[in-house]
Amino acid sequence: MKYEKSKEYDKKLIESKIMGPNPLKLVEELLVNHNISNSATVMDLGSGNGLTSVFLVKEYGFRVFPTDLWSNPTENKKFFDEMGISSEEIIPIKADANELPFAHEFFDAVICADSYNYFGRDFNFLDEKLMPFVKVGGYIYIAVPGMKKDCHDDLPEELLLAWNKEQLDYIHDINYWKNIVTKSTKSEIISIKQMEGNEELWQDWINCNNEYAAGDKKAIDAGACKYLNFISIVLQRNE
Ligand SMILES: C[S@@+](CC[C@H](N)C(=O)[O-])C[C@H]1O[C@@H](n2cnc3c(N)ncnc32)[C@H](O)[C@@H]1O
Repeated sequence: MKYEKSKEYDKKLIESKIMGPNPLKLVEELLVNHNISNSATVMDLGSGNGLTSVFLVKEYGFRVFPTDLWSNPTENKKFFDEMGISSEEIIPIKADANELPFAHEFFDAVICADSYNYFGRDFNFLDEKLMPFVKVGGYIYIAVPGMKKDCHDDLPEELLLAWNKEQLDYIHDINYWKNIVTKSTKSEIISIKQMEGNEELWQDWINCNNEYAAGDKKAIDAGACKYLNFISIVLQRNE
């Protein structure tokens, strides 16, 4: 995929904000032919330093609530101001995905890039913790780092160069995620598939100048992408 929208963004800006494989490219691919209306109210869940939230406002015209646990909403607000985005268009919130501070049925959609695997592996999360905040008929778009095939019983050396067994338990294959989202009685699966993007997104990350990227570089340079992929999941609330 060519990532026409993401490529318009300054490399240095991307490198200073991202916390993993290029989330702009993840979101761009996730939203190809999406069903979310213009000017929809959208939660960017696990938004980190807010780069994807800026992207969602500027490229898609959504009103966005960047919602994140580890980042600082005041810092993020400064960044949004610098990017010329008004506080009507973007509203930064510090919150735990397990205790979201919103009114029920507030959002037309939730978009979640490279973070659902932190909280969404719990079977109850989707229906109990997230779905209540989505309007009936609204959508959840998820992109997670995944494995082509789960191999947790016999982890390849290449992966272990950067991550330990516990960290790798955040990364799973399509069958694993299918098993989780099919348990939801409040949503139907619109699609779940392996994404096209893989090594290019990791390369954008390992070229960043920070200690986490340097750690991940060992695995990617050794060829870890042959075991890895990204998985997109699109759900629609049905009741
Ligand atoms: C790998 S970072 C990705 C951030 C951003 N989406 C990006 O790609 O640059 C994972 C993000 O998940 C968020 N996160 C992890 N657990 C969370 C939780 N329980 N509630 C809300 N956010 C959480 C962290 O705050 C972090 O920003």
